[in-house]
Amino acid sequence: MASPPTVDPEVFYSKLPAFHVEPLWRARGLMRPAPGREAVGCVWRYDEVRRLLLESGDVVTAAEADRRVLMLLNPGLDGAAAATANLYAGLQLVLPGEVAPKHRHAAAAIRFIVEGDGAYTAVDGEKSVMRPGDLVLTPNWTWHDHGNESDGPMIWLDGLDIPLVNKLDVPFFESPGEDRQLLTRPDDASARHWAQGRLRPLWEGDWQRRYSPVVNYPWTVTERVLRDAAADTDGTPHDGVVFRYTNPVDGGHVLPTLGCAVQLLKAGFRGAAHRHTSAAVYHVVRGNGATIVDGARLTWGPGDTFAVPGWAVHEHAAGDEEAILFSFTDEPVLESLDLLRTAPADRQEA
Ligand SMILES: [Fe+2]
Ligand SMILES: [Fe+2]
Repeated sequence: MASPPTVDPEVFYSKLPAFHVEPLWRARGLMRPAPGREAVGCVWRYDEVRRLLLESGDVVTAAEADRRVLMLLNPGLDGAAAATANLYAGLQLVLPGEVAPKHRHAAAAIRFIVEGDGAYTAVDGEKSVMRPGDLVLTPNWTWHDHGNESDGPMIWLDGLDIPLVNKLDVPFFESPGEDRQLLTRPDDASARHWAQGRLRPLWEGDWQRRYSPVVNYPWTVTERVLRDAAADTDGTPHDGVVFRYTNPVDGGHVLPTLGCAVQLLKAGFRGAAHRHTSAAVYHVVRGNGATIVDGARLTWGPGDTFAVPGWAVHEHAAGDEEAILFSFTDEPVLESLDLLRTAPADRQEA
């Protein structure tokens, strides 16, 4: 027979906070059975955000703003600057003649060019002129500045790991107050020397960094590869003809915290449903279609951006014409920490 307690439990519990301890056996929800999934599937319409972005050009200069960006906020995340739990997304505008000054930060960035022709990004001594569909990398702690030397507005999608870096409490930021960095390499040198992957530039020596040495993955190459493959295959059941952008040194993801992919969905494509712990932000390069996310149908068209949170059941469908989607994800983080989990799912009705 159990002996009667010699300590009054309520007295015991009430004195704990003063010592900054709490009983694990009374903690609810500490070990959750599955991801919390506060972020929801959502779409940002390009024509709507573009209109606001162009209006913002009259509100603030790129120099005043440092970066003139409208952040894309997931409505499930209570106003946090996040498109999914770990991913930040924004649309940035640089007007003709403007400069977004040199800075660097611990958060890594990718850019996918949406509109314009002739603005540049400089990254760690290399300048690259950006055109629609180009993917430009700004790895963790690399100096970067942007400028628009063309006569039209330049708009791109920014993708960063800011929510993750802030959760890990490792943010750093430096802005020396200079517009431009010193250029130390020929323009677009890395795209020419490294991007083929099958030929390695030996004068670069051992590339010891964990990110890709390529600044710009040009659309002209990406589109050709995508189209050639689509002539041969239907690709994968979930994502159609899909390519991951790789680091040509090791074939892995382009950045340790952000992965990028591009996929072609043939006309009438109807993808299989699945879920994975990694989240993704998609940008519609061309075509119309819909993605069902946890039972909600998100229709999308050219220029739109949409978010698929981690562990949300999703399936893509193209309309009557082919569609091309670019996406960035937190997959490399989860993969390297053994936290990437994938599961098939039943087809959804929406
Ligand atoms: Fe930046
Ligand atoms: Fe997926």
